[in-house]
Amino acid sequence: MLKKVIGGLGLLFILIQFIRPNQTNPVTNPQLDYRTVTNPPEEIKGLLKAACYDCHSNETVYPWYSQFAPVSWWLSAHVREGREHLNFSTFGQLAPNDQAEALEEVAEVIQEGEMPLASYTWTHPEARLSPEQKNSLAAWFNQSGGAKTENSKEQEDD
Ligand code: HEC
Repeated sequence: MLKKVIGGLGLLFILIQFIRPNQTNPVTNPQLDYRTVTNPPEEIKGLLKAACYDCHSNETVYPWYSQFAPVSWWLSAHVREGREHLNFSTFGQLAPNDQAEALEEVAEVIQEGEMPLASYTWTHPEARLSPEQKNSLAAWFNQSGGAKTENSKEQEDD
């Protein structure tokens, strides 16, 4: 009985491997990337790349275990949803007001510790943000979000 169950699970594991999510990164114009558009300090660039870009950009680096279903399905869903909410690779396509809004939201989720997702920091120690790193990220995003809003207001006044 137990042998049959284990055999059945093994077969199921093999069969589900044939359902492969798309894990290729879309090609994007680098001019539209957040880092090109706003040119943040190196520290901020590095932290974003380490803690956010796997799910919120078109530069996802898939770990080896992401090749195996059902983990592959779960990770790919995170990447798809993450990009839908916010994609740093296409940041330059957003209207100025939407950019400002996105930046404010980024500051918020970092300050509240909602992002990066806990399941991600378990497996990516480099993405665990110290309180100081959170502060400098939040300060940068609050300031650049505020600056963007100022700019768009000025443009409206002209
Ligand atoms: C493991 C994948 C993953 C990582 C890493 C990650 N996110 Fe997310 N993020 C998601 C997913 C999935 C959602 C949408 C569902 C949700 O809100 O939980 C999301 C939503 C968001 C949202 C929208 C929140 C809302 O309420 O609409 C923002 C802003 C955000 N993430 C910013 C960040 C920032 C900044 C980082 C890096 C510090 C980061 N994320 C790291 C997966 C990720």
